[in-house]
Amino acid sequence: HHCFSKSADGYLYCEGVRVQDVMEGAERSPFYLYSKAQITRNFDAYREALEGLRSIVGYAIKANNNLKILEHLRGLGCGAVLVSGNELRLALRAGFDPTRCIFNGNGKIVEDLVLAAENGVFVNVDSEFDLENIVTAARVVGKKVPVLLRINPDVDPQVHPYVATGNKTSKFGIRNENLHWFLNAIKSYSNEIKLVGAHCHLGSTITKVDIFRDAAVLMVNYIDQIRAQGFELEYLNIGGGLGIDYYHTGTVLPAPMDLINTVRELVLSRDLTLIIEPGRSLIANTCCLVNRVTGVKTNGTKKFIVIDGSMAELIRPSLHGAYQHIELVSPSLPDAEVSTFDVVGPVCESADFLGKDRELPTPAKGAGLVVHDAGAYCMSMASTYNLKMRPPEYWVDNGSVVKIRHGETFEEFVKFFDGL
Ligand code: LLP
Repeated sequence: HHCFSKSADGYLYCEGVRVQDVMEGAERSPFYLYSKAQITRNFDAYREALEGLRSIVGYAIKANNNLKILEHLRGLGCGAVLVSGNELRLALRAGFDPTRCIFNGNGKIVEDLVLAAENGVFVNVDSEFDLENIVTAARVVGKKVPVLLRINPDVDPQVHPYVATGNKTSKFGIRNENLHWFLNAIKSYSNEIKLVGAHCHLGSTITKVDIFRDAAVLMVNYIDQIRAQGFELEYLNIGGGLGIDYYHTGTVLPAPMDLINTVRELVLSRDLTLIIEPGRSLIANTCCLVNRVTGVKTNGTKKFIVIDGSMAELIRPSLHGAYQHIELVSPSLPDAEVSTFDVVGPVCESADFLGKDRELPTPAKGAGLVVHDAGAYCMSMASTYNLKMRPPEYWVDNGSVVKIRHGETFEEFVKFFDGL
């Protein structure tokens, strides 16, 4: 059961609510529309998959940082994966248990590490200088920091190069050759840090779970080596990265259960607590960006649907040619011609497209058009380019539409210059 579906009358619904009706009541367009129940179902899929294992599900806040969504996920039992001091502040505000939070990143600054140390969150060691910064923060705070070693396992995730992170040319993590240097260094800092686990993150949009298994085999081997050096490791963190069905072609992709089942025996065999860091697979398919058609135009042989949403609200297609499914929210007029369109925004940039070569019925001016699977890396990557203020967000909660974030306003923008 998925939250967005077209009914026989040709209207798109979100959990029983007509998207067309939400458009009529919304503060403005475009806006993001989520299903709260779908978020719960996605989390439950992980919970069920993890039964019988000690585990932490660390939601990758970078995927979507709406405070209401964070509070909901925390309420379901989620931990959090953070990549900045501000993400940690937001996680704390949302009530996340800091001992179920992991601070990641290749360029963590001392100030943010101090905040992490004060709150007792796990910190991933990414490099030699990162280790020094963590030690500095531990000394400032006077607390021992629990750390995981982020190992670059050099596994090809078979995804777009911009979202591959665990291969040898990546800027993330430490290389195998350096493992013993790190273990010695960590031993010498036994007053400041405690090594509790090993971490890897292969990349994002991964649709073959064998890749996770290959990485887990390597990681367990590292864990054996590290334990042999006298460290009491408890955690294996296999990162995030599970892909979703962006193409809506009906192909069945691996679910959390498939992912966890490929690593379950390995985790049990070493008596480890498994940490996973899903972002996309928890939140992407719970949301659409809802736009209004401004007009339709033809330039030579090319046809365009121009909408009010753009790369400012949703940059994934422009940034890495990502495909996100597009459809109209209401039935088209009986004489509407079906054509191949590029769906573009009003931003002054040729990269401003939401979809290329899409077969769609010619929409009327003002018609609603959604970009699907917009819950992850869309709002959190929105900009104010061309002074398009960031959009409001709503969710359907038990049949009612509730605003979960105000749209950013021009007045808020000009305030940045107050008193200067
Ligand atoms: N853990 C680490 C260390 C990560 O770097 C990431 C994502 C995650 C977990 C969560 O991965 P997920 O489960 O969401 O795949 N902006 C790109 C995606 C960048 C992903 C960055 N790292 C996009 O729009 O597709």
